[in-house]
Amino acid sequence: MIAARYARYGGPEVIELVEVPEPLPGRGEYLVGLRAAGINPADVKVRRGATPIAPLPSGVGREFAGVVLAAGEGASDFRVGDEVIGTGEWVIGERVVAPEHLLVAKPTALPWTWAASIPVAIQTAAVAVASQDPRPGDTVLVSAAAGGVGFFASQFAVRTGARVIGTASERNHELLRELGVEPVNYGPGLAERLRELAPDGLDVVLDHEGRATIETALELGVPRERINTISGYDGWYAVRYVGRKGLDRELVSGIAQELVDGRLRMRVEAEFPLARIVDAYRRLESGHLAGKVVLTV
Ligand SMILES: NC(=O)c1ccc[n+]([C@@H]2O[C@H](COP(=O)([O-])OP(=O)(O)OC[C@H]3O[C@@H](n4cnc5c(N)ncnc54)[C@H](OP(=O)(O)O)[C@@H]3O)[C@@H](O)[C@H]2O)c1
Repeated sequence: MIAARYARYGGPEVIELVEVPEPLPGRGEYLVGLRAAGINPADVKVRRGATPIAPLPSGVGREFAGVVLAAGEGASDFRVGDEVIGTGEWVIGERVVAPEHLLVAKPTALPWTWAASIPVAIQTAAVAVASQDPRPGDTVLVSAAAGGVGFFASQFAVRTGARVIGTASERNHELLRELGVEPVNYGPGLAERLRELAPDGLDVVLDHEGRATIETALELGVPRERINTISGYDGWYAVRYVGRKGLDRELVSGIAQELVDGRLRMRVEAEFPLARIVDAYRRLESGHLAGKVVLTV
């Protein structure tokens, strides 16, 4: 089968599609034929040699949706032909082996590309917003509010009844308004713009960007425990970090159903076939997009 691999750390160009032996499902595992895979900045950080360092050669990608092709001994949750959503390290290729606890049933009405976007970005957005428990009357700042995680964190924050302000470039302002988010440009002068928009201050900051957002939040007097960042700078600024851990099966199933029902909005910025995986990561790494970049297999 074909799978994505890289033998040295670097940019998207180090990724190759190579012929590898098909994996065999062990006890409690399934062989899944991929239909789609989400790609994420965390893949990029690892591939560029940041922590956690993946031993080389390494595979690529952490989230997928596909069809169960075979079950290992004792694996009883799914049957051959079932559609599933899953996570793992490293999953992008024609087929992958995954243990039962890292798979959930995919609603058949859910498009493959949407399903493959849930385990990393959407699950993370849900747990990060819940960890701060925003209330009606609160003002919440979401940074990179139109991005892979931010697009969903924005929606989860809006539904708490809080007032939500989101940072984005001009091109994404209309999209944020459609979600019920008040857009503000990021970049120099952000603190002044936020003081003007929210003279009584910010109650919660959900960061998906990094240092500029956290420093602005601290400058505006937001308590450290009300700043949650998933961008890797929590230790640096002693702010909170709540992100995803593995696969919360109940949460992911609930999100899948909400996407089917239209209660949660999806946006796929770009879709590439597996053969164009390098272009897909180039698109992701351009840094300016709305929603998810997804591969189809
Ligand atoms: N630990 C975890 O559980 C976890 C899980 C998922 C992601 N993460 C991390 O969370 C971060 C965000 O991930 P993501 O998938 O949402 O990324 P992403 O989709 O690549 O983010 C793209 C967004 O970032 C915005 N952006 C670009 N430059 C910006 C700036 N200077 N200030 C504010 N926004 C800016 C862009 O807005 P415009 O297009 O409007 O310019 C775009 O909408 C990454 O660091 C990722 O590694 C952590």
